[in-house]
Amino acid sequence: MVPLGVFVIRFTRAIVAVFVAALLVSPLGAQAPPTPLALSAQAAVPAQPQLTLAEKELFLQKAKIVRTRSASKGVTNTVRATLTDGVITHDASIQTIDEFMTEFRGNRGTELNFRDSWRYNVAAYRLDQLLDLDMTPPSVERKYNGKPGAFTWWVDDVLMDEEERYKKKHSAPSPGEWNRQMWMVRLFDQLIANVDRNLGNLIIDKSWTIWMIDHSRAFRLFDKIKAPDNLAGCDREVFERLKALDLPSLQAAMKDYLTTSEMKAMLARRTDIVARLEQKGEAAFFNRGAR
Ligand SMILES: Nc1ncnc2c1ncn2[C@@H]1O[C@H](COP(=O)(O)OP(=O)(O)O)[C@@H](O)[C@H]1O
Ligand SMILES: [Mg+2]
Repeated sequence: MVPLGVFVIRFTRAIVAVFVAALLVSPLGAQAPPTPLALSAQAAVPAQPQLTLAEKELFLQKAKIVRTRSASKGVTNTVRATLTDGVITHDASIQTIDEFMTEFRGNRGTELNFRDSWRYNVAAYRLDQLLDLDMTPPSVERKYNGKPGAFTWWVDDVLMDEEERYKKKHSAPSPGEWNRQMWMVRLFDQLIANVDRNLGNLIIDKSWTIWMIDHSRAFRLFDKIKAPDNLAGCDREVFERLKALDLPSLQAAMKDYLTTSEMKAMLARRTDIVARLEQKGEAAFFNRGAR
């Protein structure tokens, strides 16, 4: 039961949000018409120590798997596993897919030289770290049932995914910050040439922080970005780090996960993105909120 006062505040915020919503139309950037949030309470879980990213990576690499089940959504047969090191218990998503097809017919058309690989999950996380984006959960290489794969930290306190938010027309409490997050998602997808940003691959946590998951169909080899209209803007600090990316820094971070051609193509797209944003001028830059 939501207390009346809180309901009134939320409802008032929602009314404000609808005016902002009118400016935006597509699901990946949209603030859908607001509805009062009636979100289920999270199940009570024992308090767990806060871990640094390095500690989360180590946990994913070393913790014992105590339970597995198949993920409730998705197409690459990921496994949701519960891991424990005796102190911390947390879930991970395990993805072992590593496929190559000269021709792939998907619901977005036909793709030549199609690759779907767990490696790209690790590469995307490492790139996210190089840019200090902090929008993808930690992802590390680890064997599962004898096969190499990616173990990715299960996002804490999931509220819903973007597909559900869009369908149920929930509005973020801060539309401005929501849009700044979405603009970073769009930029990242152009940079990594992600051909699979379906709405189930964006997870929203209870602070309305957006997490990008599932990058197994990315890092394509084209030099120019495919959807320049998707570039709306960029956080100023991330933009500086984007400009500073070079082959040695990428190689040091991800040579085991991307080929040199994949890295060079990404750098070419980076150059394309930087030129387009600079052309837009100062209006394209903002300072996003702390995560
Ligand atoms: N790290 C994660 N945190 C929370 N939920 C996740 C995570 N990874 C996967 N999921 C959930 O599992 C589903 C399937 O995983 P995903 O990595 O998207 O694989 P697929 O390639 O099969 O789409 C996702 O849509 C999401 O609901
Ligand atoms: Mg997916």
